[in-house]
This record gives sequence, structure tokens and C-alpha cells, in this order.
Amino acid sequence: MALSVSRLPLGAFGQTRFQVPVIGQGTWEIDGRNDSAAIAALRKGIDLGLTHIDTAEMYGEAEPLVGEAIAGRRDEVFLVSKVLPSHASRRGTIAACDRSLGRLRTDHLDCYLLHWRGGEPLTETIAAFETLHRQGKILSWGVSNFDVSDLEEALRIAGPGKIACNQVLYHLGERAIEHRLVPFCEREGIAVVAYSPFGHGEFPDSRKASGRALAEIAQAHGATVHQIALSFLTHRQNVFTIPKASTIAHVEENAGAAALLLTDAEWAVIDRAFPRGSCPDLLPML
Ligand SMILES: NC(=O)c1ccc[n+]([C@@H]2O[C@H](COP(=O)([O-])OP(=O)(O)OC[C@H]3O[C@@H](n4cnc5c(N)ncnc54)[C@H](OP(=O)(O)O)[C@@H]3O)[C@@H](O)[C@H]2O)c1
Repeated sequence: MALSVSRLPLGAFGQTRFQVPVIGQGTWEIDGRNDSAAIAALRKGIDLGLTHIDTAEMYGEAEPLVGEAIAGRRDEVFLVSKVLPSHASRRGTIAACDRSLGRLRTDHLDCYLLHWRGGEPLTETIAAFETLHRQGKILSWGVSNFDVSDLEEALRIAGPGKIACNQVLYHLGERAIEHRLVPFCEREGIAVVAYSPFGHGEFPDSRKASGRALAEIAQAHGATVHQIALSFLTHRQNVFTIPKASTIAHVEENAGAAALLLTDAEWAVIDRAFPRGSCPDLLPML
């Protein structure tokens, strides 16, 4: 059983002027298996309000596929793509953005991210983001897989209010960022976008006590365990998530998670079943 969709709550996306749905749609590995089904799923998601669509130049054929899914509907979508670190020099970032715009068949991105930190100096990438912003090719920019010290450096370069979001690995089994990174982003007005909300295939095992606790909460709400996993992420202010789904049934289920309201006792059960663990030295990433 799955809860069906109500209205999708929106949240302020960092310090941008955008109100963005707390649940969106990822596109990594969405291409390849059945492109027309994936396009239909993305379009269904837009119908249901999952209008934050996340893609990247790294995701193979995903950008052209997204371009096709949003054709004629560009204004309904909050479109995000990412530059690879190996392209993130000043000129390389601008060229990579132009290629993404071409593949997505649009003249602008709503947000453009550095996929993760690589060898190019941050000053160069940020200068390129600012140029693209002035040119109207991107309406905001952000980062991905940045830990607190990376964000501090980016803030020193860019100044306050410029970094729209930090897209990071965050799900029930990976809560380490709650120690420092999530509070830091809240304080600095940087949206946290939780990627791989279902663990990229490592979903809690229903044969383990933690998986059974999740299933009991889901049953009490007439929901699915995947809906509880999304609700866990989005009940926090300033956290957005982008599950990837390539079937309409999964998209409908994910949109339905927005209707969930868990009790304090249920949050306590989830906290015990999926502890944060200790504060890590290194930011986890896929
Ligand atoms: N910035 C980064 O470094 C980074 C890294 C990883 C991911 N991401 C972004 O985050 C997005 C999401 O993460 P992800 O793709 O790694 O994995 P994910 O969203 O954690 O999991 C995707 C898997 O969950 C399945 N699924 C979706 N909805 C479901 C539901 N309601 N019930 C059961 N299964 C469901 C999908 O199946 P079907 O496809 O069959 O529907 C797929 O197998 C990516 O697509 C990408 O846009 C960013």
C-alpha cells in the first residue's frame, strides 16, 4: 500500500528567490533501460509536482532524455545540472554549461553545481559560475559533495548568499552529515539536497530489526517504507531530496510521501533504528 499524492510542500532554496518542492527527481542511470518509460515517468513526476529535476553532464544520455521530457514544459521545472571537476576551470565550466544547455534544449539552468571538488582552483569555477549568472545562462549556482571546510573556502571566495545548495549523500543509513554539515548549511542559508535517498540500492533490509521498525511505521500510516525514507529526509527544514525513479508507479509513490506526518514517538523509533553514528573525518560520497 502507498499513500497517494496531496500537494507537494515547497521550501526556500537557500537564499535564492526560488521555492522548490522538497521532493524532486534524480536522473542518474535513468537512461538505457527503457527511455520512453523513463521520459513518461519524469513527465508524470512533473504533473505531480516533482518539478526539481537533477541531472549532470556525467550521467551519459540523461541530459538529452531530460530535454525531451521537459520539452514544452520548461517553465514548470527547476532544472539543475552539474559540471565535472575535470571540466571546472574558468573556460571549461562555461563550455561544459553550454554543452549541457544544448543537450537539455534550454537557454538556462535554474541551478548549476560543481559535482565534487577536483584539481581546479575553486576561484576559477566560482568566477565561471558568476559569469554564467551574469549572462543569464544559470539563475543560481551551488556545489556537491562539499564538507564544512570546502564550504568555508567557497564562502570566503564568493561571499555570503551566493551558494544556493550543497548536494550530498544523505539517507537513513547515512546520517553522518547531521553532526556538522546540516547545521552549518542551515546557519549559512545553503539548501541541503539529499542524493541517493534510497541508498542507491542499499535500502534497509526488511529482515533486520531496523527494517522491521521502518515497516511497522509505514504500515501504521498506510504508506510504504520508501515513503517513510523520503519523509525522514524532508521533515527537516532546508533539506530537499531527489529520488531517481524510472517507473510511473515509483514516481507516484515518491510524490505521495509528501502527505506523511510522523509522530514524535515514531521519529524516536527511527532515531534508535538508524543512529547517526559518530562525526566522520571525511564526507561520505557515492
Ligand atoms: N551529486 C552527486 O554526487 C550524486 C551522487 C549520486 C546521486 N545523485 C543524484 O541523486 C539521484 C538519486 O540517487 P540515486 O539515483 O543514487 O539512487 P536512489 O534515488 O537512492 O535510488 C534509486 C533506486 O530506487 C528505486 N526506487 C525509486 N523509487 C522507488 C520506490 N518508491 N520504491 C522502491 N524503489 C524505488 C529506483 O528504481 P527504478 O529506477 O526502477 O524506479 C532505483 O533503483 C540521482 O539519480 C542523481 O540525480 C547525485
